[in-house]
Amino acid sequence: MKNNFITFGKPEITQDDIKEIVKVLRSGWIGLGPKTEEFEKKFAEYQDIKYAVATNSCTAALHLALDAIGIKPGDEIITTPFTFAATANVITHMGAKPIFVDIDRDTLNINPNLIEKAISPKTKAIIPVHIAGRPCEMDKIKILAKKYRLFIIGDCAHAIESEYKNTKIGRWADISCYSFYPTKNITAIEGGMAITDNKKWHEIMKIKRLHGISKDAWKRYGKNGNNFYEVLYNGYKYNMNDVSAALGLSQLKRVEKNWRKRDILWKKYNDLFRGAENIKIVSSEEKKGEKHAHHLFIVLLNIDNLRMSRAEIINYLKKNGIGSGIHFLALHLQPYYKNTYGCKKGDFPEAEYASQRILSLPLDVNLNIKNIN
Ligand SMILES: Cc1ncc(COP(=O)(O)O)c(C=O)c1O
Repeated sequence: MKNNFITFGKPEITQDDIKEIVKVLRSGWIGLGPKTEEFEKKFAEYQDIKYAVATNSCTAALHLALDAIGIKPGDEIITTPFTFAATANVITHMGAKPIFVDIDRDTLNINPNLIEKAISPKTKAIIPVHIAGRPCEMDKIKILAKKYRLFIIGDCAHAIESEYKNTKIGRWADISCYSFYPTKNITAIEGGMAITDNKKWHEIMKIKRLHGISKDAWKRYGKNGNNFYEVLYNGYKYNMNDVSAALGLSQLKRVEKNWRKRDILWKKYNDLFRGAENIKIVSSEEKKGEKHAHHLFIVLLNIDNLRMSRAEIINYLKKNGIGSGIHFLALHLQPYYKNTYGCKKGDFPEAEYASQRILSLPLDVNLNIKNIN
């Protein structure tokens, strides 16, 4: 029986993707190696930046980035409570403290006008998250970073194709981190990438992603390898492997083509919901010079006026063959963040408002325009 269920965030895996994966599987080298290096090179080219370090997740890339800029226990890092756990978890992994700043309801991104109030002598960095692929107001964030000498680490998990003021979004931060999780705009099954123009940070991240052992020590098993290596840092096991890289590279080739496909679906959704009484489209308006990555199509449900609860709507969609998602539940109200940092209801009203009402509808290239009606 044909399965017509629309799985939320279903990846598109083509015959070419499979061929590329099989080639690597048969090559005799499936770990960190030449395919990963090629993926780094091509991804850096696409993002118009000098260096890229491939990792096994965006979470790992964010952690490496904070490590590379020298975050220390007790430092404070500003970010949004309207994000996935990974963004703030990596701050706590460094022994630093996440300082949440509320969002703008219309974009679901951090409200740049509230950031300055949250800066203290302990603040070392800001992590803007480009929710759904909508770029944050980076010019305002950059002015503050410069004024208070703060680093910017971009959480670009949703923002592979995003641009702000006609510049790739990743260039607006000191280091920017991407995700290739299965639901993302391109996937490597699991994977991430940290990009930067800074040679020193690039070297550190490259070494630390593989146990802190000397650069290119992964080549030790190859023909020209050297079995001896040095441990230079207390590193991590965060490397990408060549099978994942083969998939990522193959997907990267059609990143713009697939963006154009999602753009058509995006516009169709907008036409459908424009003016709807109980469904508000968020994050859809693009300003001049901006490119939205169209990673997620998120609506705000007018729950006060609807006869069904959000959970009932999700179930109703499921019964009718449509998967949906919630991106995200306000992080400051999650037990760990409440218990550890004393966050409470009412601290970030806009994030809480959105968190209660959001619903993400399917937006992947397996869909066609007839699915949206
Ligand atoms: C905003 C955001 N940041 C970071 C991550 C972490 O990505 P990964 O699963 O590749 O570690 C995600 C994952 O969905 C995310 O949505």
